Amino acid sequence: MRPHLLLLGGTTEARLLAEALAARGDLDVTLSLAGRTQRPVAMPVPVRVGGFGGAEGLEAWLREHRVAALLDATHPYAARISAHAALAARRAGVPLLCLARPAWVPEAGDDWRPVADVAAACAALGAAPRRVFLALGRQEVAGFAMAPQHRYLIRSVDPITPPPPMPEVTCLTARGPFTLEDEARLLDAHGIEVIVCKNSGGTASHAKLVAARARGLPVLVLQRPAPPDAPRVTNVQAALDWLSHALNLRGV
Ligand SMILES: NC(=O)c1ccc[n+]([C@@H]2O[C@H](COP(=O)([O-])OP(=O)(O)OC[C@H]3O[C@@H](n4cnc5c(N)ncnc54)[C@H](OP(=O)(O)O)[C@@H]3O)[C@@H](O)[C@H]2O)c1
Repeated sequence: MRPHLLLLGGTTEARLLAEALAARGDLDVTLSLAGRTQRPVAMPVPVRVGGFGGAEGLEAWLREHRVAALLDATHPYAARISAHAALAARRAGVPLLCLARPAWVPEAGDDWRPVADVAAACAALGAAPRRVFLALGRQEVAGFAMAPQHRYLIRSVDPITPPPPMPEVTCLTARGPFTLEDEARLLDAHGIEVIVCKNSGGTASHAKLVAARARGLPVLVLQRPAPPDAPRVTNVQAALDWLSHALNLRGV
């Protein structure tokens, strides 16, 4: 019987891992998605969608499906599922690895201002109306109702429903990767004065930061949540190496 790997996904890295493992064919891989995206990218391994029902539900799933290893390749801001994974893996005695891409670091000329959360971002935007680009994903957008005086440009993969509660909003749907030219054009076309984003890391959504630097725009960066209490790697190859070791496979 081939070992069963549960891969918690929703990221480019999870897709790349799934592709590498599917090509080998010596593991049964289940990729789990939260179900946040209406049209997820096609995957080369079986996919299950939706929550497990907390850490207890995930622990039960690991036991029921005889999972030999758990790989948490969720988004760096998806802290709840990562905490559940750490707890469930410990209780079920399943080896766990987290794959989290490194955070971006500011370069000369960047004007990044760390903010703890959406409330802090609203405070940092100030009282005077500004043109704000929210490059955050859908879940945090409603919190900007606390700062209704600004004009918001909001980009998300899927349409935001219900629509954001702020009075002046332009919504765009788009899926990265975004080029520097795309981002420069977008910032200029909307007269953007400040960006609010997460420190997601990776290349797909980095260009907005380069475009902001070139324009001297401030960027309010929501801080990453604390990482889970589990071994961590920062790239796909290191995760494959760990799997090879954890499952005693040859050359995975
Ligand atoms: N999830 C993604 O694919 C994704 C992608 C990009 C960005 N983000 C960002 O991460 C932050 C939090 O997002 P989130 O609500 O998805 O994560 P979360 O707050 O960590 O998770 C909330 C719940 O969603 C379920 N869940 C999350 N990821 C799952 C997965 N891979 N498979 C099965 N169930 C999963 C779990 O439900 P149960 O407790 O019922 O198991 C979990 O408790 C947001 O800022 C979001 O923009 C997430």
